[in-house]
Amino acid sequence: MILLLPILFVSCHGLLLDPPASAGSGFCSYPCKLQDNLFYNEAANDTVITPNPYTLELSTQQNNKIICFERSGSFIVNRRGANNDTYRCIKIIDVCDDAIVVIQTKLFTMTTPPKLCEICTPDKLTSQPELWVSMSKTLLKCNVPSTCSKTSGTDWRCTGSESNTPDNGQNCKTHG
Ligand SMILES: *[C@@H]1O[C@H](CO)[C@@H](O)[C@H](O)[C@H]1NC(C)=O
Ligand SMILES: *[C@@H]1O[C@H](CO)[C@@H](O)[C@H](O)[C@H]1NC(C)=O
Repeated sequence: MILLLPILFVSCHGLLLDPPASAGSGFCSYPCKLQDNLFYNEAANDTVITPNPYTLELSTQQNNKIICFERSGSFIVNRRGANNDTYRCIKIIDVCDDAIVVIQTKLFTMTTPPKLCEICTPDKLTSQPELWVSMSKTLLKCNVPSTCSKTSGTDWRCTGSESNTPDNGQNCKTHG
C-alpha cells in the first residue's frame, strides 16, 4: 500500500494518461475518480464502491468483488467470481467531473486469463453505454435557482453562471 502511493499520485493527474498496466499486477488500478467517489447507475439501481485502488464492489453484490486485472488507458479487464475465473473488459469514458460512461463486454468464464488485446475488441465491447453519476455531495453544488430565494440555511443559491449550466437553447445549429 505504501509502495503504491507515488504511482497513485501520478495517476491522479489524468484518467486517460496512466501508463499501461502490466498484466495481472498490483499496478492495475481504477481511475482516481472512481476511487474518490461513489458512483450510481440508475438503470441498475446500484452504487459502485472502491475499497482499494484495484477492487470494485457493487452495493447489491458486496461479496462479489471485482478485481482490476489488466489495464491499458481507458480499457480495463476485470476479474471476478468464486474461482477468480470470470472476466469482462470495460471501457471507461471520462465524460465530465461528475460522471463516467462505461461500455462493456459480456462476462467470460475462462480457465486461462484472457489477454487484454483479445477481450477488449470492438466486436465484444457491444453493451449499451451506461452512465454512472457521482454521489458526492458536490455533485448538486448549488440547489436553488439563481432567480429564487433561499428558504433554509442549508440552501445554496446558484449564481446562474456556474460552469456546468447548459446553454439557453437559443440559436442552435439544427433549429436556427
Ligand atoms: C434501489 O435500491 C435501494 C436500496 O438498495 C432501495 O431502497 C430502492 O427501493 C431501490 N429503488 C428501486 C427503484 O428499485
Ligand atoms: C481470488 O482472488 C483473491 C484476490 O486476489 C484471493 O484473495 C482469493 O483467494 C482468490 N480465490 C481463489 C479461489 O483463487
